[in-house]
Amino acid sequence: MKFLILFAVIAAASADFLTADQAGVLQSAWSNIKNSEVDILYAVFKAYPDIQAKFPKFVGKDLDSIKGSADFALHATRIVSFITEVVNLSGSEANVPAIQTLVSELGNNHKSRGVSKAQFNEFRTAITEYASTHTSWGDNVAAVWNQALDNVYAIIFAKLG
Ligand code: HEM
Repeated sequence: MKFLILFAVIAAASADFLTADQAGVLQSAWSNIKNSEVDILYAVFKAYPDIQAKFPKFVGKDLDSIKGSADFALHATRIVSFITEVVNLSGSEANVPAIQTLVSELGNNHKSRGVSKAQFNEFRTAITEYASTHTSWGDNVAAVWNQALDNVYAIIFAKLG
């Protein structure tokens, strides 16, 4: 008689979070670009037109001509303010549930809009390129930046499924 024993090891779902020191590095780097909302969204759309094409208001339009519009500024501000909110919450374990709630909602909203993991990865590449060329950057900042994005993307990707 054979017994098949299945050991299911379920890793405790404790989210990674930045230490206060790491958060300070992130907040300082982000503070240099957080008011460049329009330039950031422009850089993302320029590098990845498939992201622009997901927006009913922007699909099929010339990027340089929409860049100055109120709709463009509004959406750029929504995205960048969201990031600022999460960056500001980082560095304290007590804020981890708030971050998880906000980022999970973002994942759910974007799943229902049909945004793919590949597109989120494109966004990551574009915003990292922007940050690395518009704020003080070095190995230390890059490591914290990547850790923060890994943490947030783990939550988003779990929702995108
Ligand atoms: C990666 C590809 C992405 C695509 C294709 C995408 C697409 C969209 C679309 C179509 C909307 C609705 C716009 C409207 O109401 O007219 C939206 C809303 C929004 N997006 Fe994204 N998005 C992406 C990534 C992100 C990321 C990385 C963030 C934040 C860091 C973000 C933050 C938001 C926010 C805050 C809103 C408005 C609130 C909401 O309705 O959820 N998006 N996005």
